[in-house]
Amino acid sequence: MNFNALIFLMFLKCGNIIGTIDSEVQCVGKQYKNVSLAAYFPSPQDDDDKTYRDMKGKKLRSLQEYLNDRSDFVSLAMDERLGIAYGTKVCIPELNKYFGYYLNFEVRDNGTDLLGMGYRRADIFVRTEMDSYDSIVNKKVTLIFVK
Ligand SMILES: *[C@@H]1O[C@H](CO)[C@@H](O)[C@H](O)[C@H]1NC(C)=O
Ligand SMILES: *[C@@H]1O[C@H](CO)[C@@H](O)[C@H](O)[C@H]1NC(C)=O
Repeated sequence: MNFNALIFLMFLKCGNIIGTIDSEVQCVGKQYKNVSLAAYFPSPQDDDDKTYRDMKGKKLRSLQEYLNDRSDFVSLAMDERLGIAYGTKVCIPELNKYFGYYLNFEVRDNGTDLLGMGYRRADIFVRTEMDSYDSIVNKKVTLIFVK
């Protein structure tokens, strides 16, 4: 291996460690384990301007927008009956680990599918139907309600 490649590897490794520390620092709060994640996506026929809206009529923000730095949160939908305050910040350590940095989820939506599910289920907004099949958004995770 040449010198440049070695430096590059060290750089990657270092970025990884910083990302991990960063995500652990910010993930402190009440935990719910074994939460089933699912994903939902815009259906073009529902909306003329193709911008899906959350429970307060604000634009939903997808995981992909967050990953592309076009949003500072990802919209998360949960059971309306839990009475979670709009905009409550949630950390999902399994996803932070997978993507290598901190993802800021915010509870901003609800849904008929979620009624009565309590803390057993949370739905992430994604860009397209294809994105919704990704196994990373269809697994059991831990939700941490950030203090
Ligand atoms: C997680 O949830 C499933 C049902 O969705 C249940 O069968 C399993 O026992 C739960 N595991 C834990 C550790 O609570
Ligand atoms: C979602 O939230 C809106 C606004 O609070 C409410 O009008 C609607 O009934 C809720 N829908 C469900 C399925 O909980």
